Amino acid sequence: MKIKINKKIESRIGLLIVPVFKENLNKLPSSYPKAISNLIQKLVKNKEFKAKNSEMVSTYLDDKNFPEKALIIGVGSNKRFNIRAAKELGGNIGKYIKTAKKKEATVIIPKEILPLAFELVEGMLLMQYEFNKFKTKGKKDKISLEKIDIVVEEESKELAKRIERAQIFSSTIDYVKDLINSPSNIVDSEYFAAEANKVAKKNNYKIVILNNKDLTKLKWGALLAVNRESHKEAKCVAIQYEGAANKREKPIVLIGKGITFDSGGYNLKPSNYIEEMHQDMAGGATVLGIFDLLRKLNIKKNVIGIIPLAENLIGANAYRPSDIITSFSGLTIEITNTDAEGRLILADAITYGLKFDPEAIITIATLTGSVISALGDRYAGLIGNSVSLRKSLEKAGKETDDLGWGLPLHRDHKKKMDSKIADVRNCDNETAKYAGASKGAAFLERFVKKNKWCHIDIAGTAFIDDPKPYQTKGATASGLEMLVKFLES
Ligand code: BES
Ligand code: ZN
Ligand code: ZN
Repeated sequence: MKIKINKKIESRIGLLIVPVFKENLNKLPSSYPKAISNLIQKLVKNKEFKAKNSEMVSTYLDDKNFPEKALIIGVGSNKRFNIRAAKELGGNIGKYIKTAKKKEATVIIPKEILPLAFELVEGMLLMQYEFNKFKTKGKKDKISLEKIDIVVEEESKELAKRIERAQIFSSTIDYVKDLINSPSNIVDSEYFAAEANKVAKKNNYKIVILNNKDLTKLKWGALLAVNRESHKEAKCVAIQYEGAANKREKPIVLIGKGITFDSGGYNLKPSNYIEEMHQDMAGGATVLGIFDLLRKLNIKKNVIGIIPLAENLIGANAYRPSDIITSFSGLTIEITNTDAEGRLILADAITYGLKFDPEAIITIATLTGSVISALGDRYAGLIGNSVSLRKSLEKAGKETDDLGWGLPLHRDHKKKMDSKIADVRNCDNETAKYAGASKGAAFLERFVKKNKWCHIDIAGTAFIDDPKPYQTKGATASGLEMLVKFLES
């Protein structure tokens, strides 16, 4: 996508987009061309436009000096204009451009929007996403947006930076969404590991990819149990980024669940649930996406990314409810439910993560259906053993509209995960329905030990049917912007 910043309208084709604040209706900004100001004034006089939030009027311009068609879009009051509003405005504009099927768009940005130009442009770009890489027909004739002209009163370096950042983020988010949306017969553990390798090589990161043989030798009993019926190898990817001035500064360890398909195992998932489970590697894909960004954004931290990869299937060799397995940590786990597989692969990955002497551990996973009941698709669940870490993530979420909300971790939750016959169990069958997100995290905490840790449960936010204005259906890359902001602050 080409994006240019101009002081006047250059393009004669495509769309001209004009966002209008309520406060500006009486005195329209001088960056709006006379003809456009006249048009808006006429609409206002005839009570056809009030600049209410998301209000849209579109009309052909029929003027040689302008693009073919204009979209006048209301932004409401500038007092309410914030990060979310800017992303949503961008999303609404982006969606309009996509449905109008235009190659070019010229967007006038009034000065009130300039500080949030990143969010605006990011929203526009994110809405151009389409998961069509497996379509062989109809793609050639498709018209999609190729060029955006941004028109402002004053050009500045900051504005150029914000726009570049929007392009960087949207292209990584598109990449993450493609990984998550792709089916399991394409994105399996080998494919995922190869992608991780590409990201590492491109950025000059150290990378270790443990395969079945390595994991067997190291006794990753929990990850291997989950993967037993898969025809693909279990793997664990570890990527290392050294961004801190002091190479020995303790790293932040990010661990993302990489279940390439979750059938539930013998605790088989029913129809309407099982079909979505190729997306159960969303946490892992998000961690990989973050590594795609760390170098580009010049983040000044040491970061380790760990992605355990497995596939939870059924067959004669699959693990069973009632099995007892020995995890990489040495702790024995009674399997009370084969569908609680995410916590098992994360447990071994956490034990591995401890070797890096982390400043903090953050796990991110589509871990529980329970978090969906609690928080829906607006907030990811934040659960951990450090209030300060949780608050920092919450803050980063607010600053990016990639929200998280704290859920409790009580001694009772931990106790419920005690097993009578092993050190711990992976599901408390008696009251499994209640506080499942907290209990899933309580299981993880046993492996985290005393390290500072927060878990992000993205089961409700990672892929959605009812997208927000700057989201497309399916994968969202939930957690990516929150974590990048956290690492930057
Ligand atoms: N991958 C699922 C959680 C999930 C559900 C993610 C819906 C996205 C959408 C996870 O492995 C799972 O099945 N969790 C169980 C745990 C339970 C058996 C303790 C759940 O939440 O039902
Ligand atoms: Zn499961
Ligand atoms: Zn799962």
